[in-house]
Amino acid sequence: MAFTHDTIERKVPLLMILMALAVSFGGLVEIVPLLFDKDVTQPVEGLKPLTALQLEGRDIYIREGCYLCHSQMIRSLRAETERYGHYSVAGESVYDHPFLWGSERTGPDLARVGGKYSDDWHKAHLHNPRDVVPESIMPAYPWLEKNVLTGDDTAKKMIALREVGVPYTDEDIKTAQEDVKGHTEQEALIAYLQQLGTHLPSAR
Ligand code: HEC
Repeated sequence: MAFTHDTIERKVPLLMILMALAVSFGGLVEIVPLLFDKDVTQPVEGLKPLTALQLEGRDIYIREGCYLCHSQMIRSLRAETERYGHYSVAGESVYDHPFLWGSERTGPDLARVGGKYSDDWHKAHLHNPRDVVPESIMPAYPWLEKNVLTGDDTAKKMIALREVGVPYTDEDIKTAQEDVKGHTEQEALIAYLQQLGTHLPSAR
């Protein structure tokens, strides 16, 4: 019997083995070159690690599940770039561990929200979104303005991030606690939001 298409389709184990081979080969061809591509693995020019306060804000963003409704990934499609600005590039995310690209957009993408609104706007919006956007379905986060940060763990977080390649200096780590201590969670979160997407020179 000739080794034909028909033979392969009738022998399910063989079909599965050949499928696994084809998919693995396809994966390797797509993924391996990316590991060596500077555009993907190097930070964009001017990218700075988050400050201590912004870093705490990022953790609050994760704790409150903001990423469940907001992506941070502008695709290179005209409808996206006209609404949100320059599409996201990989080099903007190299210090993000874990990255917060997200996949669900109940609310708008936030990849370039930094500088779009004033701090006061964010304060009002986080306190109760309906005060500034009447039709909003975003939840209110009134506790953020009451909870005060101690900064006890901030230096440890920075040390851990340095281990995986984020270039924090000894000085950053030394002053981390005093930079954070006494600020509210809301202030930290706003500091984080206000730098989003502001590092890419061509997006300014
Ligand atoms: C249940 C889904 C949901 C969650 C969770 C959520 N949001 Fe939103 N968000 C929205 C929607 C819908 C809008 C659009 C209406 C508005 O501006 O309030 C929005 C708007 C925004 C905007 C304004 C964006 C723009 O370009 O106008 C910001 C900033 C924002 N959200 C931040 C946050 C942060 C920070 C958190 C977490 C503390 C969060 N959101 C959690 C749904 C959500």
